[in-house]
Amino acid sequence: MRHEKDWYKELVIYQIYPRSFMDGNGDGIGDLKGMTQKLDYLKELGITAVWMSPVYASPNVDNGYDISDYFSIMEEFGTMEDWEEFRDQAHQRGIAVIMDLVLNHSSDLHAWFQESKKSRDNEFSDYYIWRDPAPDGGAPNKWLSVFGGGAWEYVPERGQYYLHFFAKEQPDLNWDNKEAREKIFDIIRFWNDKGVDGYRVDAISYLDKGMDGRADMSEPFGTSSCANLEGTHRYIREMVEKTTRPDNLMTVGEVNIRNLQDAKDYTSASRGEFDMAIGFVPPIVEIKTWSPERFKKEVKEQYEALKEDGWWARFFSNHDKPRQVSLYGDDREYWLESAKMLGCYLHTLPGTPFVYQGEELGMTNIQLPSINDYDDIDTKNYYKTMLKEGASPKEALAESQMVSRDNARTPMQWDDSENGGFSSCRPWLPVNENYTRINAKQQMEDQDSVFRFYQKLIALRKENPVLVHGDFKLCCPEEGPVIAYTRSLEGETWLAVHNFSGQEQKLEHDQVTEETRVILGNYKGQ
Ligand code: GLC
Ligand code: CA
Repeated sequence: MRHEKDWYKELVIYQIYPRSFMDGNGDGIGDLKGMTQKLDYLKELGITAVWMSPVYASPNVDNGYDISDYFSIMEEFGTMEDWEEFRDQAHQRGIAVIMDLVLNHSSDLHAWFQESKKSRDNEFSDYYIWRDPAPDGGAPNKWLSVFGGGAWEYVPERGQYYLHFFAKEQPDLNWDNKEAREKIFDIIRFWNDKGVDGYRVDAISYLDKGMDGRADMSEPFGTSSCANLEGTHRYIREMVEKTTRPDNLMTVGEVNIRNLQDAKDYTSASRGEFDMAIGFVPPIVEIKTWSPERFKKEVKEQYEALKEDGWWARFFSNHDKPRQVSLYGDDREYWLESAKMLGCYLHTLPGTPFVYQGEELGMTNIQLPSINDYDDIDTKNYYKTMLKEGASPKEALAESQMVSRDNARTPMQWDDSENGGFSSCRPWLPVNENYTRINAKQQMEDQDSVFRFYQKLIALRKENPVLVHGDFKLCCPEEGPVIAYTRSLEGETWLAVHNFSGQEQKLEHDQVTEETRVILGNYKGQ
């Protein structure tokens, strides 16, 4: 596919979590063949790009976000031929292919790390972040990893510690090493040559660790201490310039956005970093702090900050968050209405919408009966940490169920047959038991379904440039559960109104007249 400048602004991106999307060979694990089988479904939905979570060779400590070989496909997912078949079939349907790049760290089983840990003076010794022990023999500093526990691991062969901001099986790569950087860029060049249209770049705010005194060593989390340092921005610019910009490939960085300046730094076109950014917020923080008021404030501020020179990635769900209808909506009484309302909010905001698999069906959170039923490394560590901090097993389980990334990772609900039509055998993670009620087959037959609503929204966005390029203006009180705004372009104005509560609300708006036409509503028949 050839790409015009700024083509990413018009996309609607669908995120596939390959392990849970569709099992093509009946082993209970989603795979590339299954993804190819479902391309017609995606075409019917109307999306124009697929971002697939990592499909590279991986021991799966963190479900593919620990890569042991960037040039080959995970056996469980298929072969390189299967990937090429997916690419070709997607392109034939006008769907761009976006790969997930995990470049902050590799798997500890990657050949580079296997060599690096052997000695202090081999070709790969300096590909990772190694430090001598502290004078007492302990870790070089007190940094903690995102998944719990210390961020340093001792290796006797070298008599040194290596840094891992995530699991200990995910050692951080050393971007300060020029040779390592070039090798990393070769990975991107390889996939560019394979015809990839863009990249989502994983956990990329921490390339420059600032351990020469610029990072705050007293902060417990390395990822807060060194986020967004100058060197990180410099390396991102170098990467983009050398790999993705020449062909206008799309880039979205998963970054740590603490304030508007960070958002500007990562996404201003004039800086030459990413086209847009996905801000990472830990689920527990999002659960505790989200509110319609916060949404309004953020949307407005971010709009003002980025409207001249930046762009927004819009998403309410991904593989690291609880299901959006359970988190921001009501997955019981107003399940249908709130699933549709969130879809309307997603597609009418300025920015590129990201739809996470199953969101278009209103899929909900799960509650597995025991911690042993969970798969996610983060959930398991969370549970252990809560117990250590004095919680009862019951409390620890309840909170782990709420924050678990597995909420979003249960298999897609394709139909009401056994295993939800995802697989002919027992899936790697249980299917949500509401699959007989919530599934794609049923929703494709029902004109009032969440699926049909998403389909209409995506079509509207394609046909009406006002939804992509229109100005944005909030037109609701700062307080309260109503989020309403207009989008305007060349004399045309659209109004989008969302009620984030279970009660009826009133909204005064002077532009609504007898002539105002209702385009779409989230109640039956609208
Ligand atoms: C990102 C991914 C997450 C992964 C982590 C480490 O936040 O989205 O799933 O665990 O990075 O790679
Ligand atoms: Ca399979």
